[in-house]
Amino acid sequence: MKSLGFRLIVALIVGITVVSTLSSWYGVQREKDELRLDLEHKAETFSEGLTGNAEPLLLNGDRDSMTRLVEQFGNRGQLLGLAIVDPNGAPVAVTRSIASYLRPAGAQLQAALHANKTISAYTRIRFRRVYLVVAPLHRADKSVAGAMMLVYDTGFIRAATLRVWGLALIHFGFQVLIIAGITVLIVRWSLMRPIARAARWMHALRLGGDETAPPMRDLDFLAPLANEVAPLIASVHEARAAAAAEARLRNAKEQIWTAQRLADNVKTKLAGSHLYVVSNREPYIHSRGPQGITVSVPASGLVTAIEPILCACNGTWVAHGSGSADRLTVDAHDRLPVPPQEPRYTLRRVWLTGEEEQGYYYGFANEGLWPLCHIAHTRPTFRAADWEQYMRVNEKFADALVEEIGDDAHPVVLIQDYHFALLPRLLKERLPHARVAIFWHIPWPNPESFDICPWQRELVEGLLGADLIGFHVQAHCNNFLDTVDRALEARVDWERFSVKRNDHWSAVRPIPISVDIPLDDHAVEDNRSEDYRRLLKQEWNFEASWLAVGVDRMDYTKGILERFLAVESLLDNHAQYVGEFTLIQIGAPTRSTIPRYAELQMELEREAERINVRFRRGNWRPILLVQEQQEHSQLLRFYRAAHVCLVTSLHDGMNLVAKEFVAARRDERGVLLLSRFTGAARELRDAILVNPYDTYSTGEAIAQALGMESAEMTDRMRRMRHWIKEHNIYWWASSLLSALCDLRIEPGVEAKPSQIEKLVP
Ligand code: G6P
Repeated sequence: MKSLGFRLIVALIVGITVVSTLSSWYGVQREKDELRLDLEHKAETFSEGLTGNAEPLLLNGDRDSMTRLVEQFGNRGQLLGLAIVDPNGAPVAVTRSIASYLRPAGAQLQAALHANKTISAYTRIRFRRVYLVVAPLHRADKSVAGAMMLVYDTGFIRAATLRVWGLALIHFGFQVLIIAGITVLIVRWSLMRPIARAARWMHALRLGGDETAPPMRDLDFLAPLANEVAPLIASVHEARAAAAAEARLRNAKEQIWTAQRLADNVKTKLAGSHLYVVSNREPYIHSRGPQGITVSVPASGLVTAIEPILCACNGTWVAHGSGSADRLTVDAHDRLPVPPQEPRYTLRRVWLTGEEEQGYYYGFANEGLWPLCHIAHTRPTFRAADWEQYMRVNEKFADALVEEIGDDAHPVVLIQDYHFALLPRLLKERLPHARVAIFWHIPWPNPESFDICPWQRELVEGLLGADLIGFHVQAHCNNFLDTVDRALEARVDWERFSVKRNDHWSAVRPIPISVDIPLDDHAVEDNRSEDYRRLLKQEWNFEASWLAVGVDRMDYTKGILERFLAVESLLDNHAQYVGEFTLIQIGAPTRSTIPRYAELQMELEREAERINVRFRRGNWRPILLVQEQQEHSQLLRFYRAAHVCLVTSLHDGMNLVAKEFVAARRDERGVLLLSRFTGAARELRDAILVNPYDTYSTGEAIAQALGMESAEMTDRMRRMRHWIKEHNIYWWASSLLSALCDLRIEPGVEAKPSQIEKLVP
């Protein structure tokens, strides 16, 4: 930094020197020109007057008068002296002080006499700078009778120019001092201090402290560097936290899964195999917006679960490219490295036409299979045209996968959800050596319900192409095996929970998905919940002493309407909560081009309004419906503020909101009210379980939650958190992968029972 300051100062001094020298030289020239002009003007006027006096004296040969004249006018001001000469240049009268100048000035004298005109010149005589004026003296006939020479001392001009140079030098000195001083200050304040602060910050972060970041204005010129350093530090922190957690766990002899442990396990399990994940939703969506192209991560537990596995083995994720700028961000093979900040695996995008998306996604998957599998009293719609598109898109994904897998000898493929029931079979037919699992994230209904699907055989047949079929809970596995039994010719092995169809075995396993829960989140004994509530009330401008929260996609399976009715029942039957209790319902818009979803949205708005109008008092209302998607970090505020979280799904494969709420309550407070028709209800036994169809009982359960003793609340929350810590998202991912990798998949050889059974709750 010192040498930077020094170099800056030297460069500035050189610049100032050049500029000052040029401007001083110009000033000196101007001063010199002015003084000379003035002198020349004076000399001209004076010589004109004097020649008029001298001419008659010369013509009369009056030497005495001429001598008096030259003595009288010589030596005035800058005039050093005068001389009068005859036509040959011989002196007639000369001021004594310049007597010796006549010979050196001979040339000028002769020139004036011969040319008969006034000659002037700046010259140097006897080491003196002088200005000579030689004017011819005339007879009456204008012939040359002689000449008069005036000699001026020009030393004063030089003295004046030296003075100007001197002043310029003094200015220059001051400028250099001031500029060098300012440079030193700028370097110190604007460069060295911010850099020192940033360095202190990085140092503290490196050592694991939580020093706050320097203000952004400090870092703006370091922004490119800061942008690189921030993710680097985040990675260091993550790695350190993971290592610390591992160490803690080793000490505690606990078997808790972390991202790091999962990554290590994945490497061992895959033993060099390449991993391919397929899902409809992609993990990173690029969109065009007013600020250019932005990237977002969809609110889905899947990204948290799958990403560490892919990162650990540099795998490939194949998904529908649905973002408006997705095509602009891929290479010629429709691939891009992700995560965008620190690429660790490949995202391969598959493009769908509008017609394909409509038929496959909106139509067959979400108007057919979704209501078919969720028993929520919305009638499934099966259209042959949608089925056509569903088949086409499954084939399209199979093509993309086969292309990605290429000649990979040991590919391991994890397919996600009901969008791809046909994909396992399509893939296995083309790549029998691939190890394939499909995880069905939604419920599987009983065989009678599934039977109404016109293509149930094809769907089951497609699924049985997989080596492993995963569900969240045992009941869904049972329903699936029952359905297989009814729909197809296949051997169902109820002991091993496997199905044999055409010499191929598929294992069926319950592996309940979960969430990420920070391990160092020990009980936080503070009033943060109170603080979060205060901030939310300010932000949304409402009054309430008791707060409940609901977080859902606006889906008819989530029982949001029933929840509203339960709130109404609570207020009808427990008057003390009127004016005191508010439910904040976050409703993320979803699949809104499907008529049933649009209807539901209107129904929910109407019902919330009806209940609000019925009970509203001043600034209080019982239901606050917030229809927007919230980032996970934003949702944490709602979870942490709530006295109670309401999860009232009519039917749900798992429901991660229930687990997210528990994971967010590091203060070990808050009550979870959970529908018994969710997969989560099988694990979170310390929630208050409700039947959402029974709105009176659900209202009573809310009252029970609000009145729960503090000790009981903490006991229940602590037990649920303990469960989720042991069965977190990394546990799920590792269980799924282990179950798949532990199977023997040679055609005709029975699958080994997976060790996963031990892990399943
Ligand atoms: C359910 C499904 C997921 C799906 C999610 C969001 O949880 O099991 O596969 O991604 O809903 O729905 P969307 O249609 O927006 O992907």
